[in-house]
Amino acid sequence: MRKKIIAGNWKMNVKPSETAALVKAVAEATKAYTNVEVACCTPAIDIPVAVAAAEGTHVGIGAENAHWEASGAYTGEISTGMLLDAGAKYVIIGHSERRQYYNETDFTVNKKVHAAVNAGLIPIICVGESLEQRELGVTMDLIAYQVKCALANLPAEKARHVVIAYEPLWAIGTGKTATAEQAGEVCQEIRTVIRKLYGAHVARSVTIQYGGSMNAKNAAELLAQPDVDGGLIGGASLKPADFVQIISAANQE
Ligand code: PGA
Repeated sequence: MRKKIIAGNWKMNVKPSETAALVKAVAEATKAYTNVEVACCTPAIDIPVAVAAAEGTHVGIGAENAHWEASGAYTGEISTGMLLDAGAKYVIIGHSERRQYYNETDFTVNKKVHAAVNAGLIPIICVGESLEQRELGVTMDLIAYQVKCALANLPAEKARHVVIAYEPLWAIGTGKTATAEQAGEVCQEIRTVIRKLYGAHVARSVTIQYGGSMNAKNAAELLAQPDVDGGLIGGASLKPADFVQIISAANQE
């Protein structure tokens, strides 16, 4: 059966010197929660400190991006193998901020997903529609397209370990959360797409998260949707008390 995963996305917040305290606060407050996996995806420079702080706890550390090549002349980039070597377990791929500000496309997302799974990392693949796309009524088509591109040529035994995060762009960092119904129906559609690609067994084992202004107050309702298996949390993951409450809600589901 699939795992519930609550993952923090720290974005370009939290300095190395602030990292251990945040990781330890989350690990300590959630150590009794055995029903949910917890991840902190941090800026690359924080990863070694985060990994050391999380050692011996149930918190997994992740990156927010990676290059698709294993090594080479790519000044400023970081490979999936480097992340694994530093102790990372997860890597966020294709976050909308990277698609929007750094020209990531569905094709580079696909290459990065392959690089992540081949290195032994769990990719958290982000998909989501803009407000304009939602209003045009093309959300489900777009999400299906993004999921198919991300997973193209990935064999079933690898696809079953990926995480998909449905993050409507209009909900990220805006305080405007999708309703539980909206989140639930898109996450259900994602599972349907995976079932068509890989069959029911793989579809059942893939963790599908919702992300976009998930917080301590709305988490329980969102996580109660049958196809919402967790959350990708930006702002609220920087506040240990709020993040812990979200993890607690997932643990109870
Ligand atoms: P938010 O960010 O929770 O601050 O809306 C979510 C994300 O971008 O992953």
